[in-house]
Amino acid sequence: ISIMILVTGGLGFIGAHTVVALLDKNHKVLIVDDLSNSSISVLAGIVSASGKSPVFEQFDLKNMQKTEQLFRDYTIDGIIHFAAYKAVGESTEKPLDYYENNITPLINLLLCAKEQPGQIPFIFSSSCTVYGEANTLPISENEPIKMAMSPYGNTKQIGEEIVRDATNVYANIPSISLRYFNPIGAHSSAKIGELPLGVPQNLVPFITQTAAGIRESLTVFGNDYPTHDGTCIRDYIHVEDLAQAHIAALEFIQQSNQPHFYDVFNLGTGKGQSVLDIIHAFERVSGQSLPYVIGKRRKGDVVAAYAETTKAEKMLDWKATRTIDEALYSAWKWEQQLKR
Ligand code: UD1
Repeated sequence: ISIMILVTGGLGFIGAHTVVALLDKNHKVLIVDDLSNSSISVLAGIVSASGKSPVFEQFDLKNMQKTEQLFRDYTIDGIIHFAAYKAVGESTEKPLDYYENNITPLINLLLCAKEQPGQIPFIFSSSCTVYGEANTLPISENEPIKMAMSPYGNTKQIGEEIVRDATNVYANIPSISLRYFNPIGAHSSAKIGELPLGVPQNLVPFITQTAAGIRESLTVFGNDYPTHDGTCIRDYIHVEDLAQAHIAALEFIQQSNQPHFYDVFNLGTGKGQSVLDIIHAFERVSGQSLPYVIGKRRKGDVVAAYAETTKAEKMLDWKATRTIDEALYSAWKWEQQLKR
């Protein structure tokens, strides 16, 4: 059966790929995005990649009147809530903007959802940042949550708690928090991909822009960490695999049909790669040599973070299948077509 899923932040990087995955599964999709960190051109990319059209509403979910109106205008059968700010450094300079922007819309959505007559599965975009520098690797969902290292990270911790507490009281919003490791890559069609506004903060878009000649060289943030080559280790996951996980999470909630259901899942590949590993893999798949320099450590970076993935495999019947080479190749193809 075709149901309508509200995807907030549906024109963002992970949001757009999830929208295409939902449309491919013949779901109806209602995107709400305020374009504060995305471009309207992504909508055309979604249509071109999927051959289908989502409904699009442009407004800011901090506005409760407009949010309530949305729930009157459409019959919403599920919510995937991506819309949020995500720059760790910026959040330390503008903490209140981060709390306001990442928490108010979440509360507004849950307040509306709990008033609906039917079940509204709710998927919350969280992050491995909630673990901080973990005691044990790979990181399982049982790893204790540490004091957040940034206001951004704190909005994810608080967000998870809000979702959990709401689900506990309101039977019609069974929920899942998904803790993403490092999403990279682009859709295989190269119609959608990562579109950072301004200077990219994340590694892979900085790499592809450097290879494309937009940036002079990549700075590797520190090579004196206690790792095999001195650079930080992360779990880089193809954004198409990540998109699929959202469908698996929605289906799990629908099929298990447990009121008050709440759980958290890591979404990663289970493999750790260093910054230099990624640079070398990129050079291999693109055939380009990448200019880079070794710089100072970046404040707030953890040494190593990669996922224990068995919980999602067992319960959601989902696992990442695409390789790092596929992810980097797709990111490079996307970057190259942007230039045209
Ligand atoms: C972090 C958070 C993640 C959060 C994301 C939001 C952790 C473990 N991860 O990702 O949860 O959602 O921010 O943006 O807390 N690097 C360079 N040069 C660059 C850019 C990055 O060397 O120009 C290095 C970083 O030092 C890091 C790796 O590349 O070791 C990945 O960095 P990035 O892509 O920014 O992601 P995280 O910081 O891991």
